[in-house]
Amino acid sequence: MWDYSEKVIDHYRNPRNVGKIDNADAIGEAGSLACGDSLKIYLKIKDGIVTDAKFQTFGCGSAVASSSILTEMIIGKTVDEVRKITNKDIADQLGGLPPEKMHCSVMGYEALEDALKNYGDYTDLDDLRAEEANNKAKEKIVCTCFSVTENMIWDAIKINGLKTVEEITNYTKAGGACGKCKSAIQDIIDTYYKKEASENTLTPAQKILKINNIIENQISPELRKDGGDITLVDIDGNRVLVKLRGKCSGCKNSHLTLKAFVETTLRETVDKSIEVVEV
Ligand code: FES
Repeated sequence: MWDYSEKVIDHYRNPRNVGKIDNADAIGEAGSLACGDSLKIYLKIKDGIVTDAKFQTFGCGSAVASSSILTEMIIGKTVDEVRKITNKDIADQLGGLPPEKMHCSVMGYEALEDALKNYGDYTDLDDLRAEEANNKAKEKIVCTCFSVTENMIWDAIKINGLKTVEEITNYTKAGGACGKCKSAIQDIIDTYYKKEASENTLTPAQKILKINNIIENQISPELRKDGGDITLVDIDGNRVLVKLRGKCSGCKNSHLTLKAFVETTLRETVDKSIEVVEV
């Protein structure tokens, strides 16, 4: 049995803004009945502000609660603000969702994204749907059981920091039926993190500059508040050689300052393997 927050239960039992808006300015859809749940969201937008939002869903209690709270989150917000809402925001606003139900928050995010994608840029909904179907046909479907594309999996990893196939299944449903797509999902996860690691790899010169910058602009000002200071002496691989100055020099807590503050700060901001050494 899953543990639901009070907010989830409240929104499931008393869903807000259920229904349809005639002459809506934007309509978005996500999921499909064939996959077990679906959501349609309608927005009324005036002067760049969402003045009304309604939803129709076929799904479980978490899908109802996610859709309901999403409408509350967006009414009164500007379109630009609404565009920044992610599935994580929806789940957070509900006080969390069980991992196995996170796909409901993703469905809300996707329906909203769908509604805003072409907002203000189309006059005929049938034309829009035809164009979307065409675009979707060009996307690579990874999970045929749930029609989940590579982009949808990539987005779920990026927004939620997912690292395992099981998490991808919880958030997108991909892999949750026949399981044939699991190795393809694993490949996407590996590719994502490989790409991220290569983007975050600094050249030696960039690393030195960054360390120097953090010491001068973040660490030194903090130490100076208590009459101490620090200067960078040299960098040897992952060893950062520093000299403590002022009250920090010779202080009996200098080891603590180096490890708990200087080293931790550099590890968090530059490289997890940095070791700080006093010279
Ligand atoms: S293809 Fe993904 S679960 Fe069947």
